[in-house]
Amino acid sequence: MMAASSEESIKDLVECVARAARITAFTGAGVSTECGIPDFRSPGSPWRVHKPIPFGDFVADEAARLEAWRRKFAIDDVHGDVMPGRVHRVLADWAAQDKVGCVITQNIDDLHRRAGLPEDRLVELHGNGTYAACLDCGLRHELAAVRPLVEAGRSPRCDACDGLVKSATIAFGQSMPAEPMRRALRASLDCDLFLALGSSLVVRPAASFPEIAKREGALLVIVNREPTPLDSVADLVVRGDVGPILEVAFRQACNLNW
Ligand code: APR
Ligand code: ZN
Repeated sequence: MMAASSEESIKDLVECVARAARITAFTGAGVSTECGIPDFRSPGSPWRVHKPIPFGDFVADEAARLEAWRRKFAIDDVHGDVMPGRVHRVLADWAAQDKVGCVITQNIDDLHRRAGLPEDRLVELHGNGTYAACLDCGLRHELAAVRPLVEAGRSPRCDACDGLVKSATIAFGQSMPAEPMRRALRASLDCDLFLALGSSLVVRPAASFPEIAKREGALLVIVNREPTPLDSVADLVVRGDVGPILEVAFRQACNLNW
């Protein structure tokens, strides 16, 4: 099935959700743009200006580490204190009703957690940008303690082992976290509906999970403002603004009181 008119496709989306026994949701930056956090690849994205520093450079070079921290804080200052949006809230509600078994997110903004999604239903594939961690021992470090060091021209070292401290996100060139990858695979294999929301589906290995779910027999539904490389294999593509679409779908599904 391909993109239908939005009314019709939202009706189809509600039917898929109502019929599903076990939904895995997969979210990208597009679910947080309405919260004020820019996505990565749309025109005007600050990420096009403040390009992420590759992991190898971060580890090898103090100047690269300081630049990475400066870019991170510059982007954090752009969107300041943000609140969860409609998609975060709807997915947390569907999880509370045991409709959504797992949310695999590529986002590092912590908004699914802040919307109330329980830990055992949240997989952060690319880590979390609201705190830092030691690359050697994993000890958590708070950004409020890191920022003054960076502003004083020194990149933070671990309080416990003097290892390098980095934002707890997965940078390009950094290996993917084993446990989140294992849980994301499990959730892709276990679902009968895989909902890909607000992602360009161009970054791997993350974009392999919708393909795995589809291959294992799940329905694949993509909700996105723009076309994605997986639209051709999806069972349903809903083109449009993901916040209102999920909100309408939630309301209609509640009326069906599945
Ligand atoms: N409604 C629907 N779609 C939206 C909305 C919205 N309100 N806002 C943005 N989009 C769409 C954009 O058109 C785009 O196709 O969401 C998609 C976001 O794509 P990206 O910016 O590429 O973000 P994402 O898919 O999450 O990127 C994956 O790439 O840079 C790395 O690690 C980073 O996790 C990120 C990964
Ligand atoms: Zn350490």
